[in-house]
Amino acid sequence: MESAGVKWKHSVLYLAFIYSILYFLHTNFLLLDNRPPRPKKWPQLPLRFRHDGTFKILQVADMHFGTGLLTRCRDVLPSHFPYCSDLNTTRFLQNMIQLENPDFIAFTGDNIFGSSTGDAAESLLQAFGPVIHSGIPWAAVLGNHDQESTMTREELMSFISLMDYSVSQINPPSEDLVDVNGGMMHIDGFGNYNLSVYGAPGSPLANTSIFNLFFLDSGDREIVQGIRTYGWIKESQLHWLRSISQGLQGENEDVNHITETLPVAPLPALAFFHIPIPEVRELYYQNIIGQFREGVACSSVNSGVLKTMISIKDIKAVFIGHDHTNDFCGNLEGIWFCYGGGFGYHGYGRAGLPRRARVISAELRKGDKAWMGVERIKTWKRLDDENLSKIDEQVLWELQP
Ligand SMILES: *[C@@H]1O[C@H](CO)[C@@H](O)[C@H](O)[C@H]1NC(C)=O
Ligand SMILES: *[C@@H]1O[C@H](CO)[C@@H](O)[C@H](O)[C@H]1NC(C)=O
Ligand SMILES: *[C@@H]1O[C@H](CO)[C@@H](O)[C@H](O)[C@H]1NC(C)=O
Ligand SMILES: *[C@@H]1O[C@H](CO)[C@@H](O)[C@H](O)[C@H]1NC(C)=O
Repeated sequence: MESAGVKWKHSVLYLAFIYSILYFLHTNFLLLDNRPPRPKKWPQLPLRFRHDGTFKILQVADMHFGTGLLTRCRDVLPSHFPYCSDLNTTRFLQNMIQLENPDFIAFTGDNIFGSSTGDAAESLLQAFGPVIHSGIPWAAVLGNHDQESTMTREELMSFISLMDYSVSQINPPSEDLVDVNGGMMHIDGFGNYNLSVYGAPGSPLANTSIFNLFFLDSGDREIVQGIRTYGWIKESQLHWLRSISQGLQGENEDVNHITETLPVAPLPALAFFHIPIPEVRELYYQNIIGQFREGVACSSVNSGVLKTMISIKDIKAVFIGHDHTNDFCGNLEGIWFCYGGGFGYHGYGRAGLPRRARVISAELRKGDKAWMGVERIKTWKRLDDENLSKIDEQVLWELQP
């Protein structure tokens, strides 16, 4: 028979044991949410040209990321199928960053393939992992598949805008959405914003924006008169584009003054969105650089994007995705429309056709003593083969002397 003293000791030990388990759980699990929030990491801003007078952008179209290792590849050779997953997409992104060392990375939608993941946040963190690890500034717009998981389009853009080194925005700041009467304009979609790139360090344009990047939300799906079709860029977005472009042309006068450029030329700009505009179909009959391998899957609605871009004069090239096996650049009335080419292994493609990425490089004009404004914009692609082969290099725009 145990003595009362031993019983008492057992009880104390037992209580101490329970208490220590509770303490352990409390400090290690239950209080996780009370850790001080870690602030977002920002890249060095503003975006600017390098000392060597270049600014290089990597376009990543249609990563179609799922959950990582367990998400299988689509449309690869049968011999590749057993060892192919989202991690091949990750490795391709790491290799492209290492080889091209871009100044900025633009993701043009279908970044994640919503229907292949039960957790959009986790998928985004993995998909953008390599760029976050690199510390290179980056921005993204949405495609038509990103929202097919646990987040709405607004939540996705909000999350993306808060990720490390991201310079994405949900929509323009309210002061950029004031109409002529001082009222607030509504803007359709999520992920409409502009970014400015400044001149080379130490040059007279070091503190001046000389190159503009526009991002637009081309939507997902819509029903028009009972028929399903893809989304399109709405009049409210084009209205914002016109007004922001006009605002930037004002700044442009300073640039022309500093660089003594005549006649006054608008600052060159590029645009990025996901779904092609209907006119891209016409490029089937024209000279293009790259391949037209599949039908253009666009909206049945033509909202006048091309007309607007022609009228504002600054956009020299537009970078789109959506049709994974098309990878061409074609010119529509003076504006280049370039597909990125499908990047991700979980997105559809064609077996034996390497996944690919597009690079865009802007170069400055050499003045007598320093770098001036943008002189030339070039592009090329790289294939995810053993050499990351460079193909289809071309000039998109050159300053007219
Ligand atoms: C995917 O990655 C694995 C592992 O590195 C590699 O063996 C395989 O060839 C890759 N597949 C493709 C289609 O690139
Ligand atoms: C967008 O353009 C406006 C000019 O209209 C400019 O003031 C603003 O700084 C630009 N935004 C960014 C993030 O560069
Ligand atoms: C740009 O700004 C920096 C820091 O304010 C200044 O030191 C430099 O002189 C400026 N350069 C020009 C060309 O205005
Ligand atoms: C890669 O480069 C090597 C050496 O130049 C060449 O033999 C090989 O055919 C290339 N592979 C591809 C896929 O282009």
